[in-house]
Amino acid sequence: MIHPTALIGKNVIIGNNVSVGAYSVIDNAIIMHNAEIGAGCVIGKEGFNFYKDGTGLLRRKFHKQMVFIGSDVVIGANTTIDRGLRRHTIVGRGTIINAQCHIAHDCIIGDNNILPSGVILGGFVKTGNDVKFGMGVIVHPERKIADRVFVGMGSIVIRDVTECSTIAGNPAKTISKRGHDA
Ligand SMILES: CC(C)(COP(=O)(O)OP(=O)(O)OC[C@H]1O[C@@H](n2cnc3c(N)ncnc32)[C@H](O)[C@@H]1OP(=O)(O)O)[C@@H](O)C(=O)NCCC(=O)NCCS
Repeated sequence: MIHPTALIGKNVIIGNNVSVGAYSVIDNAIIMHNAEIGAGCVIGKEGFNFYKDGTGLLRRKFHKQMVFIGSDVVIGANTTIDRGLRRHTIVGRGTIINAQCHIAHDCIIGDNNILPSGVILGGFVKTGNDVKFGMGVIVHPERKIADRVFVGMGSIVIRDVTECSTIAGNPAKTISKRGHDA
């Protein structure tokens, strides 16, 4: 069910059995079947990218790509997902995102990721499948995280994570080779 107070704007395609919570605002997005979008989410707005014009003023770059939300994705309340600058922002099938997360422009999140509350992914971050984050993780823009990595709560990820492992801390470092048991 689409809540009557949700604003579904331009360039939106919504699949079967999708629910959208109260006061969510969605533009420029394709949302596949069975997705569940909580209250107060903002999806498909401009990303945070600027350039200086001839006078030295910062001007927002125009983001013309979409947001693609795979089937069976769950998105918690007040989460924001920006549209892409150079490629579509993608949330893979079956990924579960809790409240108050921010997924920046051009991120590609794999299938079956778990993002608890407060996770922030900078622009162009790419994650594999079955990645699990703890609460409040921040990932530096453009970093890549391999399949089944477990990122401990509160971690700051500043380097690519190329192998399945558990990482934690600021800056995040490997604490075990185990990773997330998908
Ligand atoms: C990463 C995590 C899975 C590690 O758990 P674990 O394997 O039981 O690890 P331990 O608690 O034995 O800690 C191992 C070492 O890593 C350190 N460590 C663990 N988690 C850490 C974190 N988030 N940040 C910094 N250091 C961490 C510990 O201090 C310990 O260091 P030491 O050996 O020097 O004492 C766990 O700490 C975590 O962050 N879980 C996510 C919780 C969460 O947000 N769940 C979602 C709720 S919806």
